[in-house]
Amino acid sequence: MCGIVGYIGNKPIKEILIDGLRELEYRGYDSAGIAVLQNHQFSLFKAIGKLINLEEKTKNFETTGFSVGIGHTRWATHGKPTELNAHPHVGENSCVVHNGIIENYQELKNMLIQQGVKFLSQTDTEVIVHLFEYHLRTAATPFDAFTQTLKKLKGSYAILLVSASADETIFFAKNGSPMILGRNGEGETLFGSSDAALIGKCHEVIYLEDGQYGVATAQTIALYDQFNHAVELRFIPLSENKLSAQKEGFRFFMEKEVYEQSRVISDTLMGRLGDERIYFEELDATLFEGINEIKLCACGTSYHAAMVASYLFERHSKIRTSVEIASEFRYREPFLTHDTLFVVISQSGETADTLESLKMAKKAGLKTLVICNVDNSSMVRLADASILTRAGIEKGVASTKAFATQVSVLWMLSLMLAGMRKTLETTEIKRQIHLLRTLPATVKVDEALHEQLRRLSKRYLNGHGFFFIGRDVFFPLALEGALKLKEISYLHAEGYPSGEMKHGPIALADPGLYTIALLPQHKLYDKTKSNVEELSARDSTICSISPLDFNKADDHIRTKLSEDYMVEFFEMMVVLQLFSMEIAIRLGNDIDMPRNLAKSVTVE
Ligand code: F6R
Repeated sequence: MCGIVGYIGNKPIKEILIDGLRELEYRGYDSAGIAVLQNHQFSLFKAIGKLINLEEKTKNFETTGFSVGIGHTRWATHGKPTELNAHPHVGENSCVVHNGIIENYQELKNMLIQQGVKFLSQTDTEVIVHLFEYHLRTAATPFDAFTQTLKKLKGSYAILLVSASADETIFFAKNGSPMILGRNGEGETLFGSSDAALIGKCHEVIYLEDGQYGVATAQTIALYDQFNHAVELRFIPLSENKLSAQKEGFRFFMEKEVYEQSRVISDTLMGRLGDERIYFEELDATLFEGINEIKLCACGTSYHAAMVASYLFERHSKIRTSVEIASEFRYREPFLTHDTLFVVISQSGETADTLESLKMAKKAGLKTLVICNVDNSSMVRLADASILTRAGIEKGVASTKAFATQVSVLWMLSLMLAGMRKTLETTEIKRQIHLLRTLPATVKVDEALHEQLRRLSKRYLNGHGFFFIGRDVFFPLALEGALKLKEISYLHAEGYPSGEMKHGPIALADPGLYTIALLPQHKLYDKTKSNVEELSARDSTICSISPLDFNKADDHIRTKLSEDYMVEFFEMMVVLQLFSMEIAIRLGNDIDMPRNLAKSVTVE
């Protein structure tokens, strides 16, 4: 989704801003822009499409010496992806970039139009800069004008505003969208909507809290809270490790991230597996006191991980578990009781619907836990407790390694609870811990299998749709397989519980309907097999994924024989990820930045 960068200092600013935006590219965007203020003069550049277009437009623009600048990658919400709608938005003598949504922008816009202000764009953001200039006419200082502006805004925002009326300064504010402020001891101040934009450019940062705002120069930073009290600056060190942000020879970040799953699962398991129990040192045992129910809440791929967990929690820990799609949960007036542990799952920790659901649960007095990949993200800071998934930066928009580590964590959590609640024999917990230890080897990509998927992919380009089917935890895996394929191939795909096909969807069966059947040996094999046979009898094209032979399939992807269905789950997960990717590559699609999608969905 949208990205923000800001810089105050003496270095060549164009490179710093565009480099920062490049680090945020993976979040998805459809236009980009920068504004630089030097010697009371603004230079403004915007381009639709990828950053390369902005680089082309700025190729003759150079600065030397001190300057102030802001940059933005926009993912269209209000108004089409055009140059006029791209950020920064300009007033007479000021520029603004903004992430989030100003909910009362229409009302503010009407008021400003009555005052004679002319609007250039269709965006909600543009009201911010005009409102600021409107207040500037009467305010004692530009910073007063900025604070008066903030008071009028309703909605979520991360804002950077630069004005010729205070030309060595950036005004900033955060409410509901992430914003990070950094400095490096070299007389530079930087801003980013994610720390990815700041790595390598500064060594210490502050993750702003909701309601905080302030004013920065190269040397000074003043920070205030929502009650206008000055806030002490508490910088924390920023990691210097950029390695994980590179493709390392893989064709796409998605491919690299699939291949990385073995290593990141090892990291996720590290220090958490005992001989006969699971350790999550970050969790206080009191978190589970008085808890009789677990409610899991998430979006997209993280929701599929939550669904897998609902099977494992009930099966292993014998605790009532429900799963909620965050965008539904928020508005359905859910009945919440204090004996429920509310667990949100999120790769980014910033997804608007999940974050709001977490806020609702907290407000209702529930204990909360987040399973998240990004430390210091909004959800991690808000929840009572957090478990980090340790997948490293995930750049491919289609989530892969984040899902793998989420399911690993949730499986471990189910065993930890089983131990605490004495719902599994110690021998069974030990057996499953042994299985967990085999996961890094299980998900290691077998080159021969990858080659088979590459060859097979050419036969799956022209049908009228895909059904991914499975039972038990293989049903959410089927949903996830279908989501992966949809996201990057733009082909129509659905995930279904195999037993449901005969209740309607089987009407679609014909040779142009591709069925991807998950047939694990150790979970309901015979039941699933009959469901696939029903589809085969109706001439659907079947691609089965199983360690056992299946003679009713048109294509068969053989997985390894293993001891347990959860091991089969992880192996099939890799197959589905690579299969989708190879189909999408053949279709010539942008694998890492599929159309219409954003990595971090910070609007509802
Ligand atoms: C799919 C995908 C999305 C995210 C969803 C939630 O590949 O990446 O469906 O899973 O937008 O995002 P997080 O996990 O960051 O809350």
